[in-house]
Amino acid sequence: MKLLLTALQRIHKPAVYASPRRRLSSCASSSGLSPLRDEALVVGSSRELVRRLGSQVEVRTGFITEEEEGSFLRELEPGLKKKRYEFDHWDDAIHGYRETERARWGAACEEVMNRVRSVAFPEGGPLLGPVHVLDLDKTGYIKPHIDSVKFCGSTIAGLSLLSDSIMRLVKEDATDEWVDVLLPRLSLYILRGQARYNFTHQILRDEESVFNGQKVPRLRRISVICRNLPG
Ligand code: OGA
Ligand code: MN
Repeated sequence: MKLLLTALQRIHKPAVYASPRRRLSSCASSSGLSPLRDEALVVGSSRELVRRLGSQVEVRTGFITEEEEGSFLRELEPGLKKKRYEFDHWDDAIHGYRETERARWGAACEEVMNRVRSVAFPEGGPLLGPVHVLDLDKTGYIKPHIDSVKFCGSTIAGLSLLSDSIMRLVKEDATDEWVDVLLPRLSLYILRGQARYNFTHQILRDEESVFNGQKVPRLRRISVICRNLPG
C-alpha cells in the first residue's frame, strides 16, 4: 500500500480564523429535522474555503453501529495481531501502523461495505479491488500526502473504528488554505474531487489532535478505506 502514497511534508501554519460549518449527521438527515444533532465537523482557514469544498468533504456520523464495529474487529483483529506496528521508517507517510487488505468479508461487514459503496461511489464505477485496512497505534499518525493518482481515482471513503480523530486537509499549492475535519468513531468520511486531488490529507497525532480549540483524544484507530480506480 506504500505505493499508493506520496508523502508530502508540510509545515502547517495555524490559521487566524476558523469558521465552523454545520453538517447534518446521517441520523439527523434520515430522521428529518433534528437541529440538535447538527454538528460542526468541518472548520477551516476561511468560511469561503469550507463552502467551496462543500460536498467534496463529507462526514456521516453514526454510519455504523457499535455492533457493526464489533463485527469488523472480530474479522480483522486476528490478522492484525500477527503483525507488528511499524514506527521507524522515516520516509513513510504513515507512522506507527500496521495494515492489511481485504477482498472478502463476512455477511455483517459485507452489508456495511455495500452501504459504503452505494453512498460514496457512482453506481457501476470500477473500485480498487481489495479494501485497505489501516491500524494506527495510539501514538501513530498519517503525515500529509495525496493518494497516488496513478492507482486511485476521484473518491476515497473511510470508516473510522475505535477512535475519534482529526483529518487535516491542506491545499497543496497554498498551504494557508486548510480545513480540519472531525472524524468521530463509527463515522464514514468521503473525499472527492478537489479535496482528494488538490489538498494533502493527514491524520493528526494525539498531541496535535485539537479540533476547533477542543482536545480530541486519539486512541488506537482502525480505518477501513475504499477507493475507486482512476477514470
Ligand atoms: C491512507 C490514508 C486515512 C485513514 O491510507 O492513504 O490517508 O482514514 N488513510 O486512515
Ligand atoms: Mn491517503
